[in-house]
Amino acid sequence: MENGGVKRGIVIKDEWPGYSLNLFTYPEHYQDDIENVYIPHGLIMNRIERLAHYIMEDFWDNNIMVLCVLKGGYKFCADLVEFIKILGRNSNKYLETRVEFIRYKSYLNDQSTEDLHIVGNTDLSFLRGKCVLVVEAMVDTGKTMQALLKHVQTFEPKMVKVAGLLVKRVPNMAASLTDYVGFEIPNHFVVGYALDYNEYFRDLNHICVISKNGKMKYKV
Ligand code: HPA
Ligand code: MG
Repeated sequence: MENGGVKRGIVIKDEWPGYSLNLFTYPEHYQDDIENVYIPHGLIMNRIERLAHYIMEDFWDNNIMVLCVLKGGYKFCADLVEFIKILGRNSNKYLETRVEFIRYKSYLNDQSTEDLHIVGNTDLSFLRGKCVLVVEAMVDTGKTMQALLKHVQTFEPKMVKVAGLLVKRVPNMAASLTDYVGFEIPNHFVVGYALDYNEYFRDLNHICVISKNGKMKYKV
């Protein structure tokens, strides 16, 4: 596939209304809290399989040190690593994957608080000399990603690539920071597939747009 498919991903247009909720199954406790099914789980999975192909090509005979950005990236990371393993098994080209985790907090309600605040251990010296794949569910202005990459570079990895499941079309968007993009989406606040709103909705498999009711109900 041509490079646009990697760097921009599947582009979802501003006018995309999502699918009606009654076309899918989802946890009943969220029925008044989401507007629509914006990206169905099956589509997410298939796109991740495609990203795994791109990653296999680029990392070829290098082992992959996966740095999963918690909490939002945990599902994307788990499914991506699984696809990399399956592809390796089916092509006799096993890449060894090791997964480490980093967590930072930058969102309260649906607003970014801007600064990179790593929660817990900031020592990433296990990245030294390694081929690193940063796995993040959501990249928007890219400020936190930029700060994270700067931090990662101080540990002198051999190579660093970024996989972003969703890249938001915002002013000054940071698409260029992301090497493997799942979907480019409009500037909506979305939840599900481990993306949260104040810790709710991580248990929803589809990516959905939160409703007014949902925002009110789970506001802190
Ligand atoms: N949803 C959940 N978390 C987020 C989002 C979003 O749209 N953008 C940044 N963090
Ligand atoms: Mg969050």
